[in-house]
Amino acid sequence: MRITTHPLPNATRAILWKERLPIGAAVLGENGEFTTFSIAPAWRRRGYGRYFMKELLRQAGGYAPGAASCFTAPLPPVGAPARAAALAFGAQLGFLPQNGQLCRRRTPDLTAVAFLHTTLQSLLHPGGFYLDATCGNGHDTLFLAELAGPQGRVLGLDIQPAAVAATNARLAAAGYETRATALCADHQFLARYTPPAGADCVLFNFGWLPGGSHDVFSTAASTLPALQAGLTALKPGGVLAVVLYSGKGIGHGEKDAALAFLQALPLAQYTVLVCRFANWADTAPLPCLVLKKGTTPP
Ligand SMILES: C[S@@+](CC[C@H](N)C(=O)[O-])C[C@H]1O[C@@H](n2cnc3c(N)ncnc32)[C@H](O)[C@@H]1O
Repeated sequence: MRITTHPLPNATRAILWKERLPIGAAVLGENGEFTTFSIAPAWRRRGYGRYFMKELLRQAGGYAPGAASCFTAPLPPVGAPARAAALAFGAQLGFLPQNGQLCRRRTPDLTAVAFLHTTLQSLLHPGGFYLDATCGNGHDTLFLAELAGPQGRVLGLDIQPAAVAATNARLAAAGYETRATALCADHQFLARYTPPAGADCVLFNFGWLPGGSHDVFSTAASTLPALQAGLTALKPGGVLAVVLYSGKGIGHGEKDAALAFLQALPLAQYTVLVCRFANWADTAPLPCLVLKKGTTPP
């Protein structure tokens, strides 16, 4: 069994082949709409349709773990003989009836990082100065650069030169070199790069560099001074966002020490949120937020 695809204007036509026989055809528009999906009558009710649709969804990103997606397909009207079969077939693959058609919407699992990104989007304004104190492969720096907009500025720091290079390459590919850059530095000395009360946001995504050596990761010895430096760097009204990790390889020392530090911050100056995923293991990544109280004069 194989699938061939052929580009059309604004769509792709796919054929399902059983050896040299075409037994299925589909047309998938570039916005995720199936305008055609059929299996030759002699080959129905044998799992070929499910295989074909699943494969087309997979190729179009419908199972990508970190991405949202939406696909639609025609639904025969109420009373039409083919309606029940279309509903049953669609349900096997996550399509539900909606506004007269079938619709398959996939929302990715919420992660600690995604949670912080969403929260930061609601707290930060374009034009700010944001510090990514663990820039790693640059995903968070890129996110902050998008939030900052053309008038904002973002500085990324990482102790590993390879991470700094990866981040600067990612920023360059997005055309963001004028608003964001990364430097090689230990984040416990971040005050060298940010004046006191100069940053709207300081982000720490601790742990090790994905794809890099698991022997290099942050530890309490540098994390506690770094958190303190991050708070000092924040403007009143600014946000410190932190993801803490624990477990295999990393241990629990950094997370426990950082949590103790955050929980001891004075209520008069800070609001501290520790946003635990309550039905995951204790070693699940732990997103935390510190909101520095006060207002900055315009
Ligand atoms: C989980 S990764 C960060 C992921 C990154 N934000 C991204 O979007 O790809 C943690 C990073 O922290 C860096 N790091 C560890 N200790 C550090 C320190 N003392 N100063 C600066 N960076 C450090 C590591 O080199 C690693 O790249």
